[in-house]
Amino acid sequence: MVDIVPLSSYPSYIDLLPSIQTCNITNLPENYFLKYYLYHALTWPQLSFVAVVRPKNGYKNGGGASGNGAGIAGDVSGQYPKVVGYVLAKMEEDPADGKPHGHITSLSVMRTHRRLGIAERLMRMSQRAMAESHRAHYVSLHVRVSNIAALRLYRDTLGFEVEKIESKYYADGEDAYAMHLKLENMWMDWKAVEKRDRAEAKKNKKEGEDGADAEEEDADEGEAVGDLGKAEQNGEKMVNVKIGRALGVGDLVEKSDVQS
Ligand code: ACO
Repeated sequence: MVDIVPLSSYPSYIDLLPSIQTCNITNLPENYFLKYYLYHALTWPQLSFVAVVRPKNGYKNGGGASGNGAGIAGDVSGQYPKVVGYVLAKMEEDPADGKPHGHITSLSVMRTHRRLGIAERLMRMSQRAMAESHRAHYVSLHVRVSNIAALRLYRDTLGFEVEKIESKYYADGEDAYAMHLKLENMWMDWKAVEKRDRAEAKKNKKEGEDGADAEEEDADEGEAVGDLGKAEQNGEKMVNVKIGRALGVGDLVEKSDVQS
């Protein structure tokens, strides 16, 4: 079973990087120093993804990766799984056209795990993250003109277009297709999302209060436990405090009730 998760799911990127580097060296002539992988992971943690083989006996501590990576960070401490695919991606740091856009630095899937849709999934997840986290206008990449498998993936499966051919782009003199795919259609309207979340929270709160009123008569909070629990009986009153996303930082800073 293979899980595809953000590289940032792991407690420490560093432990996974050698395995990613192995996946790169095994499959591609374009190789990088370990620190270049780390630079990607630290600078754009949302954009790079790994395909990892789920340990035979599952992840420790129950819960486990459910295929979408949820809860994986807590589960894999001390047991780093084998990487069978990765996409290393970034935002272009100084875009010539002035448009923020993503770039696929490298993509690779081990031979043992090809034609299972892993590369397609890695690419789609990275593209979505570029659009949602960075409002990338498009994603770009280079691919060897002789790389039929990758070209099919980019052009036919994902919808990339060839922008131009870059002559002798690679160290061995081979030409590259410079390709790109527009991402504006994946941008999120975060204001609308936040508005919807606030309305939902308000509705839930109201329902909770109505439910609490109905249950009030039967309320049984049990006996006070420990010193803190007994505080109210010792003359200290419990106070209601405001909590929630609408509060500013000032509201969340603890204040002393004692007037000086
Ligand atoms: N021949 C023809 N089409 C292919 C092939 C192939 N060997 N492999 C993938 N495709 C196309 C197909 O359209 C496929 O859809 P289908 O299986 O429904 O027909 C589609 O791509 C999706 O395939 P995936 O299963 O997602 O691709 P996979 O996980 O096998 O990985 C990859 C493809 C990454 C190109 C893999 O072959 C590989 O690692 N190759 C060596 C490294 C490499 O070339 N990386 C890309 C370099 S360019 C760069 O890094 C920016």
